[in-house]
Amino acid sequence: MAELIDGKSVAEGVVRRVKALTIELMEKGAQKPGLAVVIVGEDPASQVYVASKSRTAKECGFHSVQHTLPAEMSEQELLAIIGELNADPGINGILVQLPLPGHIDAGKVIQAIAPQKDVDGFHFINVGKLGTGELETAFVPCTPAGSMLLIERVRGKDLSGLNAVVVGRSNIVGKPMANLLLAANCTVTVAHSRTKDLAALARTADILVAAVGRPEMVRGDWVKPGATVIDVGINRIAAPEKGEGKTRLVGDVAYAEAAKTAGAITPVPGGVGPMTIAMLMANTLASAYLAAG
Ligand code: GUN
Repeated sequence: MAELIDGKSVAEGVVRRVKALTIELMEKGAQKPGLAVVIVGEDPASQVYVASKSRTAKECGFHSVQHTLPAEMSEQELLAIIGELNADPGINGILVQLPLPGHIDAGKVIQAIAPQKDVDGFHFINVGKLGTGELETAFVPCTPAGSMLLIERVRGKDLSGLNAVVVGRSNIVGKPMANLLLAANCTVTVAHSRTKDLAALARTADILVAAVGRPEMVRGDWVKPGATVIDVGINRIAAPEKGEGKTRLVGDVAYAEAAKTAGAITPVPGGVGPMTIAMLMANTLASAYLAAG
């Protein structure tokens, strides 16, 4: 059976380190790191994620502000709030929770965030830095950054020459994940909905990252023996075995099957999910250190 990669425990370690470094920063006379989380509308999953981000920020000793805004607000009003946060010296990180309501251009809003406060790593400047290997000064998107940390825990820092297959090509996970693996000298293939014979391709992977948002799509016989499997999916599905109307969370990987063949695998929940929030804290702290000079 595969080693279970305990993302919850690794994430707790990251948060502990962020807390300690926050105290060190303040002992030097700097202000608290400030994180602003902006949510527009009432998507229930987004509300849960955002509450968790704000709570962890407080736990880290940050100045944490949350803007909960109505779904009907205009793009212009949202851009004005971003402008205020950009200008606020008490704020080091700005996160606008996605998805945004359809009448708001998410691309325009993301590009309005000051790149030095873009702790999600979605601004063109940060995307470009990651793409060109300027990792020292880039904000790297939190989910791929956290996934990378878990991969290094299992395989060590030298991933040179390993075959990595990333299933999914989103701007939030798939593409930045591929860039991080490439920067680590992996041979990287990005697969997606049009990929031919995905199962055969997946079987070539020493590192298999699933980020498609399709419950249990990656089956056990897609996994190369000994592979490291990172499951980014968080899907809520019906669980009639728990009672009528009950649900449960599953990943993009059929866990029970894949765990028989993989060398190591992340569970859902408790794998990549907690790492995303921990890396957001790490990015916000890094931004505060840069601002303090
Ligand atoms: N929605 C789903 N994942 C993310 C994320 O990492 N950042 C933001 N801002 N929104 C998301």
